[in-house]
Amino acid sequence: MQIKLETVPIEQVEADALVVPIFDKESPGGGLPSEAAQTANDLAGGWIEELYRSGEFSGKEFEMAMLYRPPGMKARRLLVVGAGKSDRFTPAVLRKVAGAAVRFLKPKSSPTIALALDAGELAAEQAVAAVEGAILGDFEPDQYKTDKKDAKSVEAFTVVVPKDGEALAQAIESARILAEAQNFARTLVYQPANRMTPATLADRAREMAAENGLECQVLGQEHMKELGMGALLGVAQGSAEPPALIVLRYRPLEETGTAHLGLVGKGVTFDSGGISIKPAQDMDKMKYDMAGGAAVLGAMRAIAQLRPPIAVTALVPAVENMPGSRAQRPGDIVTTLSGKTVEVLNTDAEGRLILADALAYARTLGCTHLVDVATLTGAIVVALGHVNVGVFASDDALLQRVLSAARAEGEKMWPMPLDEEYKELLKSPFADLPNIATRWGGAITAAAFLKEFADPAPWAHLDIAGTAWLDDAPPFLAKGPTGVAVRTLARLAVNWGE
Ligand code: BES
Ligand code: ZN
Ligand code: ZN
Repeated sequence: MQIKLETVPIEQVEADALVVPIFDKESPGGGLPSEAAQTANDLAGGWIEELYRSGEFSGKEFEMAMLYRPPGMKARRLLVVGAGKSDRFTPAVLRKVAGAAVRFLKPKSSPTIALALDAGELAAEQAVAAVEGAILGDFEPDQYKTDKKDAKSVEAFTVVVPKDGEALAQAIESARILAEAQNFARTLVYQPANRMTPATLADRAREMAAENGLECQVLGQEHMKELGMGALLGVAQGSAEPPALIVLRYRPLEETGTAHLGLVGKGVTFDSGGISIKPAQDMDKMKYDMAGGAAVLGAMRAIAQLRPPIAVTALVPAVENMPGSRAQRPGDIVTTLSGKTVEVLNTDAEGRLILADALAYARTLGCTHLVDVATLTGAIVVALGHVNVGVFASDDALLQRVLSAARAEGEKMWPMPLDEEYKELLKSPFADLPNIATRWGGAITAAAFLKEFADPAPWAHLDIAGTAWLDDAPPFLAKGPTGVAVRTLARLAVNWGE
């Protein structure tokens, strides 16, 4: 999708559809906030006011009304989209409004879409949100559909503003980079496990690295054995697909500090549960168990293009968790790279095992700060549903950096506790640690397990099990992979020096 910025009066905008966000009519200043909305209303003979009066349209979020061949305008259609109450209008709302408009127009053969904004001082923030919303809304997980007729892609999306400038153009460019990186991750995530093995994920990482000037190294099974990654190898051994540890390096031309960020993403290309096998219901969904790894790869793609002045190394342990004849058994004891031994009480708690070795390895590569992203537990879905990512951290400064990056990117994340008492629940009579604790607080004890392998480096953990995949699609996104955490991780690196 081509992204453009224009500064023409809205009656001059040439597009298949001109989108004008308008507010709930009950809003403090009334429903027609912008000059664009006023002009559209006047040109169309008071059409929007009449819509309000009729009660047919009140301006609630994502309500749509469309006028074909609007009088006095060059655009083929005028689409007004409800943006909710004006006092609750934020860039995050506009991101969704733009996405919903694009998704509404896509099946109506609207290859060129323009969106009118006049937000004054907030123009840059709003333009960013509109561009991201449009690119994310345009995404369709339809690679394997022969008939794609309902999902014609948008060719060009234009943000129409009263006055442009270098800052606005730059902001839009970075929004494009971030949203396209997020769609890159989403494409990896919806691939079924027969087409996305650990080796395929490594191939995709290599291609992306080559295209974006990143260094890429893939460690195979033999290398893992030499290093002593017993936990990662233990998970991999039940599958015919060999594991891969993907390492990507981004180095800035000029580093401004000594921090070296390590991003670690869970890359389980299919999680059957292993010998502790999962129930059949919804097992197909476990192809998205590599969404953390995909988020890290997506973030690295954006980082390579945005070039922040901080060193970033990404690690994605990629494995398939299967109950093959060589599979590890409940009760097996593995020795991790860190030297700690783990009793594998449940082979379905595999994410923490592969991350334990990847986190320890990241420290040996010189990472000073670690952030991992993983579809780690069903328990986080119980706690936070499909709305918030659960964030755990060993270091308050790093936690605040992650939360503020998430806020800036409009990704909902919620801090979770990690008191010492939770670690006390990880007791094994036969090894240093068990890989599971009791049922309660499962997302927290999983995080407490990971912390043992990240210590003493400041570390944060994002549990995205509830947010990486949405079965109930909101109006602004396709059903399926969300690409959550890509923008936050990239923003974390970009804003590090601030
Ligand atoms: N991949 C799952 C977690 C998951 C659950 C992701 C739902 C997405 C949606 C993880 O490997 C797992 O199986 N966790 C177990 C841990 C348990 C055995 C302690 C879980 O959450 O049930
Ligand atoms: Zn599992
Ligand atoms: Zn898993």
